Amino acid sequence: MFPIVDEEGTVVSKATRGECHSGSRLLHPVVHLHVFNAAGDVYLQKRPEWKDIQPGKWDTAVGGHLDYGETPEEALRREVREELGIVDFEPQFIGKYVFESKRERELVYVNRTTYHAEIHPSAEELDGGRFWTMQEIREAMGQGVLTPNFEREFQRFFLDKIEKYRLLTEQIRALIEGETDSVAVMANVCAAIHAAMGFWWTGFYRVQNGELVLGPFQGPVACMHIGYGKGVCGTAWKEQRTVVVPDVEQFPGHIACSSLSRSEIVVPVISIDNTVVAVLDIDSKELSSFDGTDRHYLEQICKMLTI
Ligand code: SME
Repeated sequence: MFPIVDEEGTVVSKATRGECHSGSRLLHPVVHLHVFNAAGDVYLQKRPEWKDIQPGKWDTAVGGHLDYGETPEEALRREVREELGIVDFEPQFIGKYVFESKRERELVYVNRTTYHAEIHPSAEELDGGRFWTMQEIREAMGQGVLTPNFEREFQRFFLDKIEKYRLLTEQIRALIEGETDSVAVMANVCAAIHAAMGFWWTGFYRVQNGELVLGPFQGPVACMHIGYGKGVCGTAWKEQRTVVVPDVEQFPGHIACSSLSRSEIVVPVISIDNTVVAVLDIDSKELSSFDGTDRHYLEQICKMLTI
């Protein structure tokens, strides 16, 4: 039995697999997991030749239906164990969307993880799997090698973002080369990030006399002073690490400069003598906007800054 859901994922009834896949268009939830390694390569599974849909094509590492009564996370853990033999992974939820074909309508929960250990794909369910570099995936797009579902989803959730960050990183490198005024650097860096990525609020807080003080930013007016260890910004400063907050209401001590902010990432800017001199704070009006891709590229950008 599969749960039948509305577009928010609330269960409204149940139906059999057959009923869901016979063109009835009953919306039923599925989970997907994209598995990255530390180098940023992507694990794809090969679909066996006996499959009725897309035989022999390379596909998202893990995909499967929720059983009636299961949460998306429970289904994800079960599918990942069954298909890849992985139990020790940390899923990051990226977003959900409705997939429609003649046969069915799915509510797809998209997740990513970074996995370091060896993967043992199920010999029964899959025809093996391997890591692909981003370049390989880009070249294989539209060639009939990858499933169209994977191509669409990957483009939308990962490739677009990575491509944008790559260009942005190069742009910032050129922009700040030779500039020694730290306010000028911060001003142009946050303007470049904000414009390229379409964020809602992007700005720096500088460490000044034992507190964080608002620096150059783009977006609506914001709080001007934040204490050491306070809020997300003060925590990133105190702990000298990037803090990703998928839901600001779940972060104890979050400082709400605006009631519209729903998720946030804060990256410390660390000087060569290993002290935090500023933090880069980015806010979104959507939940769970920031993931490992944002963290990777924003940390890289903050490392380039000598302020
Ligand atoms: N939310 C932040 C404060 C800064 S504003 O989001 C711009 C925090 O909790 O530190």
